[in-house]
Amino acid sequence: MTERIVLAYSGGLDTSVAIGWIADATGAEVIAVAVDVGQGGEDLEVIRQRALDCGAVEAYIADARDEFAEEYCMPALKANGLYQDKYPLVSSLSRPVIVKHLVAAALKFGATTVAHGCTGKGNDQVRFEVGITSIAPGLKCIAPVRDLALTRDKAIEYAEKHSLPIETTKKNPFSIDQNVWGRAIETGFLEDIWNAPTKDVYNYTDDPAFPPVPDEVIITFAKGIPVAIDGKPVTPLQAIEEMNRRGGAQGIGRIDIVEDRLVGIKSREVYEAPGAMVLIEAHRELENVCIERELGRYKRGVAQKWAELVYDGMWSSPLKHSLDAFIDSTQDHVNGDVRLELHGGRATVTGRRSETGLYDFNLATYDEGDTFDQSAARGFIEIYGLAAKQAAAREARLQG
Ligand code: ARG
Repeated sequence: MTERIVLAYSGGLDTSVAIGWIADATGAEVIAVAVDVGQGGEDLEVIRQRALDCGAVEAYIADARDEFAEEYCMPALKANGLYQDKYPLVSSLSRPVIVKHLVAAALKFGATTVAHGCTGKGNDQVRFEVGITSIAPGLKCIAPVRDLALTRDKAIEYAEKHSLPIETTKKNPFSIDQNVWGRAIETGFLEDIWNAPTKDVYNYTDDPAFPPVPDEVIITFAKGIPVAIDGKPVTPLQAIEEMNRRGGAQGIGRIDIVEDRLVGIKSREVYEAPGAMVLIEAHRELENVCIERELGRYKRGVAQKWAELVYDGMWSSPLKHSLDAFIDSTQDHVNGDVRLELHGGRATVTGRRSETGLYDFNLATYDEGDTFDQSAARGFIEIYGLAAKQAAAREARLQG
């Protein structure tokens, strides 16, 4: 029986050429799988047909939008997942769900190998391959751009020679990856890290310098998940989409960072993630109201590790699973409403209310009705500061 290879297919030039290129190089049959993670753009049925026209024996579209929002973006929201405190893990989150569908297709169609279009310099190759082998240890991986010398010029030549139904002249100056959680833009003139991004870099966000009137929004959370916007029930996917639209109109969520790739390279990345950044801002503030102090402090450290594991392609690793369980357990009381003003590039929290919060007006107030026993503070401070005071006294003694 002819060997079969499942290819992660985007519909673009490289993966369209890869269908025939892999078949020629290996003699295998290629099954193209495109996964919808809310990237928008071209109609996926057109993409499916293109895969068949380029020589795929089967082509398959997986609609993973709700699954991606619920099982990948929501855990990231619960963690307030930001790599290097800034990057909301846009591409890092989509790889594991794409991997899941590639593996399912490999089993369904009896394939032995999974192929992807990544280069040998980035994080995504690691996420795909570590992801695939950590859920299906028997599958092999291959990357035609990296392993079969499929360069851009050869791809154009191949597409023209075989009259593949794909545009070869339109050269986008950037490498772009996008999904409902955000958009990543790299390469081109952005590789000079002193160059400011130009207007054409952005697509999910309008220029924050010329915003429309301020937009007030109330987001309702239940156990850390957005369940309503302005009182109207929403699914996680709808919550992200609506905040992308409203946050994007105000130019919220533009990020420009030199980040540390897993392979050791520092790279300049521009992101736009309006919905993700609005939701994280709101969620974080609700946690401030609802999570006990020590738990909150500890969780911030866990969240940083969580983001690094996800960034580094360890979505299915034992540590990541255990941290998920911890993070989930912190969300039990994260319920309530957060009001924000979206305006000119910023999402500013202006109010919060919760039935399960720990904020106690009577403890906090400086007005009448104070229930806090201020006389207890003196003794507390004396004992709390005792060790530091002893150490300072020793310094004074030794110096004096
Ligand atoms: N640097 C980001 C990450 O590793 C984005 C990668 C996006 N990929 C791309 N082909 N533009 O998560």
